[in-house]
Parts: sequence; C-alpha cells; structure tokens
Amino acid sequence: MNNFSKMLIEWYNLNKRTLPWKKSFDVYQIWLSEIILQQTRIEQGTPYYLKFIDKYPTIVDFANEDIGNILKLWEGLGYYSRARNMHHTAKHIRDTYNGIFPNNYEDIRKLKGIGDYTAAAIASFSYQLPYAVVDGNVYRVLSRIFGIDIPIDTTAGKKYFQHKAQELLNKKNPAEYNQAIMDFGSLVCSPKNPQCTSCPFSSNCIAYQQDKISTLPVKSKKLIKKKRFFHYFVFNNQQEIILHHRNNQDIWKLLYDFPCIETDSEKILDNDLKKYKIKKLPNPIQLNQVLTHQNIDAYFYDMDYLPKQIPDACIVVKVKDIQQYTFPKIIRNYLKCKNL
Ligand code: ADE
Repeated sequence: MNNFSKMLIEWYNLNKRTLPWKKSFDVYQIWLSEIILQQTRIEQGTPYYLKFIDKYPTIVDFANEDIGNILKLWEGLGYYSRARNMHHTAKHIRDTYNGIFPNNYEDIRKLKGIGDYTAAAIASFSYQLPYAVVDGNVYRVLSRIFGIDIPIDTTAGKKYFQHKAQELLNKKNPAEYNQAIMDFGSLVCSPKNPQCTSCPFSSNCIAYQQDKISTLPVKSKKLIKKKRFFHYFVFNNQQEIILHHRNNQDIWKLLYDFPCIETDSEKILDNDLKKYKIKKLPNPIQLNQVLTHQNIDAYFYDMDYLPKQIPDACIVVKVKDIQQYTFPKIIRNYLKCKNL
C-alpha cells in the first residue's frame, strides 16, 4: 500500500463515522444512499434514506411504485431528477436484468443517472471492485495535500484527478479506501475551516505548508446564475385552490405550483395579466430560491376567487387536500407563510 493510503486508513480506523448504509452489502441500498448524498448533506439525507428503504426494501418494490409517490417521499431533498432517473433505472433493471443489479463497472456506468462517481462508489462498496471515487471531497483532499492547481472543472483537470485517485487507491480494499477519503474530506479537510492542526498529513500537505488552503482546489469558471422572475397567481376561495402541474421541460419537472407568468424583471405589465383576465393585483408576497444554475424571484398574488376558466395544465383541488401534492421548496415556503 502507498504511504498516502496507509496514513488515510490509519486515520479512518480511529475516526470513521457510523452511517446506516455502511453496514449494507445490498447494492440497491448502496445505490440509493449514493444518489441521495450526491447533492445533500449527510444529516439531511439520512432520514430520507431510512424512509425509502423502509417503504421500498427492494429495487422491485421501488420500481413498482408510482413516480408521483416517489417524488412525494423525496419532497424537500431537491434535485428531483435524481428520483426520476432512479425510478427509470429501477424499472429498467426490473424489466431487462430480472431485477438484479449489474455487477460490473461498465454495465453499472451505462445506467441512467449513474456517472463516474456513482458507478465507482457502487462497484467498490458493493463488489470490492478497484475503482476510485472522485467527488468534491476527493478533489479537495488531493488538490491540497499534493498541491495540485489544475482547475477541477476542465477536461484536463478531471482526467488528472481521476488518474491520481486511481493510482492512490488501495486495490486490496477499495471500499474501505473510498469511504475513508470521503469521511476524511468531510470531517478534517473540509471546505471551510479545515482541521489542519489535528490533520495527520499536515507536515506533508503542500497547501498547508505553502498557505494555499483557501485557494485549492481551483475552479476556472465562475458559475453564472440566470435570474428568473415568476409571478404566481394563487386562486384560492378558501374551499378550493388552483394548482398547476409542471411539465417535463423546465425546472421542477412534474411537481406542482400555481398558474404563473414569467417575466424579465420584477415588474408585471397589464398586458401580461390578460392571460388570467386579472384586473387588479394585490400586493405580492416575495420569496426567493437559489438553484445550481438559476436564481428564482417569485411573487405570489393572493386572488380570493377561482377564475371562470381553469387555466391550461391546472387542476382545482380542495384546500384541505393540498399536502397530498409535491411542491418545490419555494411553493412550500409560501404555503407555510399562509398556514396552508
Ligand atoms: N458522500 C457521498 N457518499 C458518501 C459516503 N458513502 N460516505 C461519506 N460521504 C459520502
């Protein structure tokens, strides 16, 4: 074993976190945990993981469920394409692999919703196959300890880190090594306030020695978020309310929101209002939600009646039944404001 792996495993044996999916050898449970943890912190993701394996103990239980109910249980985790892709892949495995998850890297990597990271995690944790994971933790740990300043968001950078990670991997126990580097990245070599004074690598760590902790890893591009303005008309006569079922094209696919007009600014023009035959607008409640690539400003106008004509793709539901539907976070925040 190389020296880096040896020191990492020594650290891991003393400091590892007990997390529910680490106990599991069930590939479906491991897959589920990795999908949930892709964009979610462990503290937030763990209760969802437990809820899902309780309700759907096997991949076939998961595949047989209606997507609407899967999205409902996923509600609050965000990045709903993870759930939709997982459902698609579970059905594919049920129908073409007889419900048995593939057991080699190439076939795992071909599945919808499974990229290089997730394929390596599943292959190593479930089957002890020698594939190194490269996620945000790994970029951070390797760039700092080895002083690598190639931008991680370039093809060359990705290739370099992948190669370096694979070289360092302990091929005798890839599952343990992969767990160790991720736990180390979140507990010691964290993005902000890393624990350098108690880090076993501090005397070898180039970033620590050269005071570059805050500049590594390097990213070449700054993510520019598109600003969007949603004007929501909440038609609610206290008994019934109008919900809009979002389509498969834009953000929040298949979730529910309200009849909406999107504009280029916070202003809404009289002409825009014609669509819903609105004459007078009340003052709106304003809320904001930041997504990876978009920044949404939403204005909610409370209309205390139902329109004569139900707008396209909309349904009328009883106000008391509203919690049965799945909403994006910004809509749930609005409902909370209104005690709905
Ligand atoms: N982040 C994503 N997957 C993880 C895992 N298996 N352990 C720790 N952190 C993770």
